[in-house]
Amino acid sequence: MNFKKIGIVGFGQMGSGIAQVTAAAGYKVVAREEKEELLQKGLKGIEKLLDKAIEKGKATADDKAKVLGNISTTTKLEDLADCDLVIEAVTENLEVKIPIFKALDKACKPETIFASNTSSLSITDMAVETSRRSRFVGLHFFNPVPVMKLVEVVHTVMTDDAAFKDAIAFAESVGKVVVRAKDSCGFVVNLLLVPYLIDAIRWYENGLATKEEIDNAMKLGCAHPMGPLELTDFIGLDTIMYIGEIMFEEFRQPHYAAPPLLKRMVKAGYLGRKSGRGFYDYSKK
Ligand code: 3HC
Repeated sequence: MNFKKIGIVGFGQMGSGIAQVTAAAGYKVVAREEKEELLQKGLKGIEKLLDKAIEKGKATADDKAKVLGNISTTTKLEDLADCDLVIEAVTENLEVKIPIFKALDKACKPETIFASNTSSLSITDMAVETSRRSRFVGLHFFNPVPVMKLVEVVHTVMTDDAAFKDAIAFAESVGKVVVRAKDSCGFVVNLLLVPYLIDAIRWYENGLATKEEIDNAMKLGCAHPMGPLELTDFIGLDTIMYIGEIMFEEFRQPHYAAPPLLKRMVKAGYLGRKSGRGFYDYSKK
């Protein structure tokens, strides 16, 4: 692997986290968003995290300058043309992702490896839309990216060994531990995590215990950092509902289906931390 320049499409929570760890590892990063204000928001978020780390004595002003100095931003996909690897982290919707990959396929040099950070969509569905099916992988990071150690590196039946090895080497070079997975819905983590979260919502809806009790049970009984309802708020209720729906579509098993309470809360706009309210109220924080 001789990657120098990494493109990141989508500079939201996941994209900016990926950009931060990639830039910190010494790569040049080109981050692309549709609008300039989203690029500025992503950069401000990274700056804030680096300032916090400096305050805690866990980073220096030089570290901050290095990370920010390695990140450039653009609204044009063509500016990613000479990247060695492009990681897509946009909305979880094939109708959004596929046109981006098609445009990147035209713009980027033939050797560029493409990766999607999708949590549950099929890597194969995206790869077949490009002329580089054998150099297309999944690179699934976890939120918050700077903290979570894991990256799932996903291969399809078309991925060639060299591209897969390069993707693994890249993930390790940004300080992550790799779990390799086949292109199967939810890979490893979400396949196991999402039905657990959905089950917790179902049992909460059934009146098993209060939300605090359910969360404390899993935190204190299993040493999880967050209980399932807290974690659903953290990830986003809409995201969990959406992943559950994709899994239900794929496997046709009822335990993946969103419970009525989850659907109603999403409809009401209670999406978790990002909207100020989910199972808990974050409006005053
Ligand atoms: N970005 C970067 N760093 C963050 C952060 C963020 N959003 N939130 C917290 N941190 C850092 C803090 O700066 C702190 O760093 P330090 O140890 O170097 O000082 C460290 O994380 C601990 O933070 P706090 O002390 O503020 O808070 P907690 O101890 O409560 O930890 C947490 C917060 C790390 C989010 C912890 O609660 C946790 O691990 N929760 C579970 C998260 C999880 O399961 N994520 C996976 C979700 S699934 C997923 O992403 C897949 C997707 O496809 C759905």
